[in-house]
Amino acid sequence: MAHEVRGIVARSKGQPVTLETVLVPDPGPGEAVVRVQACGVCHTDLHYREGGINDDFPFLLGHEAAGVVESIGPDVTSVSPGDFVILNWRAVCGECRSCRRGRPWYCFSTHNATQKMTLADGTALSPALGIGAFAEMTLVAAGQCTKVDARARPEAAGLLGCGVMAGLGAAMFTGEVGLGDSVAVFGCGGVGCAAVAGSVLAGASQVIAVDLDPMKLELALRFGATHGVNASEVDPVEKVRELTGGNGADVCIEAVGHPKVMEQAFFARDLAGTLVQVGVPTPDMRIDLPMIEFFGRGGRLKPSWYGDCLPSRDFPMLIDLYLQGRLDLDGFVSETIPLEGVEDAFHRMERGEVLRSVVVIGS
Ligand SMILES: NC(=O)c1ccc[n+]([C@@H]2O[C@H](COP(=O)([O-])OP(=O)(O)OC[C@H]3O[C@@H](n4cnc5c(N)ncnc54)[C@H](O)[C@@H]3O)[C@@H](O)[C@H]2O)c1
Ligand SMILES: [Zn+2]
Ligand SMILES: [Zn+2]
Repeated sequence: MAHEVRGIVARSKGQPVTLETVLVPDPGPGEAVVRVQACGVCHTDLHYREGGINDDFPFLLGHEAAGVVESIGPDVTSVSPGDFVILNWRAVCGECRSCRRGRPWYCFSTHNATQKMTLADGTALSPALGIGAFAEMTLVAAGQCTKVDARARPEAAGLLGCGVMAGLGAAMFTGEVGLGDSVAVFGCGGVGCAAVAGSVLAGASQVIAVDLDPMKLELALRFGATHGVNASEVDPVEKVRELTGGNGADVCIEAVGHPKVMEQAFFARDLAGTLVQVGVPTPDMRIDLPMIEFFGRGGRLKPSWYGDCLPSRDFPMLIDLYLQGRLDLDGFVSETIPLEGVEDAFHRMERGEVLRSVVVIGS
């Protein structure tokens, strides 16, 4: 029997989202139905609503979620009903050319549910990032459920499902920040603050936060940044150099998605330093760099998707650190809201007022 639940749907490009009845089928082979407890509001949900991802409307939004497994398909052994899980958008296939070469975090063929969730009239929904968790229940591939310690608060744990993991991993995995490194993080929203936290966890001795907004710099300092640089007041490249003995940072992380900031992060690096790109550009954006600077400075330029994470390896470990008080996931939860609050939360996100609004469902 399909479940009839409430969910937040983007019906057409640019239009406010609406609360709809969603039909969630029973899980088939390789699938699981999850009772969603909490789901963060991410920029990507807004990009879907704006038609910036693709035109497969209507979308069932929401993808940074934690909840409890309700039911599993006949052949599923990785999770059981009652398990507390974080949903992920990297259920690796184990068979593609990247998985076969031992690099599953680049998997080119990740799994999603094969059945469709629908509106009451049978219209098939496209779940955001194959998840669709602004809903009381959602249908996913079983591999999208990562079991973690159930003592974690769902509203904090769910954030590992996207933006916070992207920032932590940009520092820890893509940037390979290590003991004694200097790091500069450009843009201190939810993703940038997570990059700050990841740099601290990885043992950086200096973490320089760069933003235009004093409130965001304040938050970055709370996540362990050693310096805050307001790029609306000073040249951030000069300032990062000055703070690093005239050299530049070992790792610069771009967490805005803006060509000018990308350029600043490029030039704020020390020789042989690493530039990590986490901010998502729009298709029209260009960067123009002298090739001699690219060559002459050496080092690495690395885009980072989902922080190069492997959910099965990283989510349980990060939840353990959270429960030990070593990773402040609660600090990313600016407010909790009901399902009906998603549209207003988009506006607060656009105005830069929150790190994360988190939808909390039921109790
Ligand atoms: N690569 C991934 O896997 C991944 C995953 C999730 C999000 N993202 C992307 O990461 C980026 C950041 O996401 P977020 O949720 O933190 O967004 P956000 O809007 O909350 O944060 C952006 C921050 O950048 C600051 N900023 C804007 N212009 C700036 C400038 N010129 N110099 C310095 N700071 C500036 C803003 O004040 C804000 O604090 C977005 O582009 C988002 O789409 C990437
Ligand atoms: Zn694969
Ligand atoms: Zn996201």
